[in-house]
Amino acid sequence: MTILVTGGAGYIGSHTVLELLSANQEVVVIDNLSNSNEESLKRVSSITGKKIHFYRGDLLDKGLVDNIFVKHDIDSVIHFAGLKAVGESNEIPLTYYRNNIAATISVLEIMATHNVKSFVFSSSATVYGDPASVPINESFPTSATNPYGRSKLMIEEVLADLYESDNSWNIACLRYFNPVGAHKSGLIGEDPNGIPNNLMPFISQVAVGKRELLSVYGNDYNTHDGTGVRDYIHVVDLALGHLKALDKLKSNPGRVTYNLGTGCGYSVLEMIKAFEKAANKTIPYRIVERRMGDIAECYAATDLAEEELGWKANLSISDMTNDTWRWQTMNPNGYE
Ligand code: NAD
Ligand code: UFG
Repeated sequence: MTILVTGGAGYIGSHTVLELLSANQEVVVIDNLSNSNEESLKRVSSITGKKIHFYRGDLLDKGLVDNIFVKHDIDSVIHFAGLKAVGESNEIPLTYYRNNIAATISVLEIMATHNVKSFVFSSSATVYGDPASVPINESFPTSATNPYGRSKLMIEEVLADLYESDNSWNIACLRYFNPVGAHKSGLIGEDPNGIPNNLMPFISQVAVGKRELLSVYGNDYNTHDGTGVRDYIHVVDLALGHLKALDKLKSNPGRVTYNLGTGCGYSVLEMIKAFEKAANKTIPYRIVERRMGDIAECYAATDLAEEELGWKANLSISDMTNDTWRWQTMNPNGYE
């Protein structure tokens, strides 16, 4: 049995491929490398000593995807491929809808023709919009304020309709909180293009001297120190959540939705402090205006994933900062 991983060369995908191979699963990856580098997969192969069947191509290429299902005995699909920059999604919404929604529908159609009906989808805590309270559980209302978030929400709805129409599908929507960190080896990690949008890669580029100063987006939120609070989760814990989701799908659960977070919230200032400890450096920062669309506080209720998936995040904030720092110092220019 073989697992098809879409977007498997990317940040979360490459860490998940590594864990799948370590668990002796056969893995096929399709990735157009629009936001990644094949080097990530070469390194995963060298860490695990295992082969990855890699197809460089676009998920919208029906011929290519169909051919993958003809050639390999695919059992399940883990679907990471997608565009993920919130700001960019406001500028080029059609590109986001085509790449995220149309590509997902295309893969699902091809799966159906090959009678493969086990699907794990990368959703996001962004589907909770601005939550009325924290921790956020899976039955909180959903909403979206930008095309990226809307694409995640629409795909969840497409999957719900698909399941209603044919309940022989087994579908897991995993709502990730804030993935950070890198594999312990320091050989794979997050390699953003250009100026990082997210906090952790920005801090680590300041620490390594690639950027001068971190802008902290607001210190007047209703949180314990006024800066935004998020649920940072180590990417290796997150990757392991996907293996648990595949196990769950084997038990024929129908359609399930789980938060993947730690249940703990850390503020921007706490993250800076934690990173300073890991890197043994001071991170220069200044407080600036709030970033449009940001919310004050977001962290997960983790009970459902613990009870039903048998999964819980184990790695700490210092694992996240130490591992990010190791990856950053070993690869100051990412995979290039
Ligand atoms: P990433 O950009 O590193 O990985 C996505 C991969 O998909 C890339 O390798 C890219 O080249 C590939 N890809 C994109 N469109 C494609 C297409 N049409 N055909 C083939 N390949 C394509 O992103 P990531 O951080 O690893 O995120 C993976 C998934 O998790 C995404 O769906 C993202 O929306 C979701 N997610 C990420 C976060 C986060 O903060 N990183 C949070 C919540 C959800
Ligand atoms: N922040 C700064 N300065 C920066 C970057 C971020 O102060 O340079 C702050 C933000 O204001 C926020 C916190 O750091 O309070 C985290 O910001 P990120 O951009 O790292 O993460 P977000 O929570 O805004 O969003 C991320 C992903 C989204 C995803 C969401 C929930 O970027 O795609 O997590 O999973 F939807």
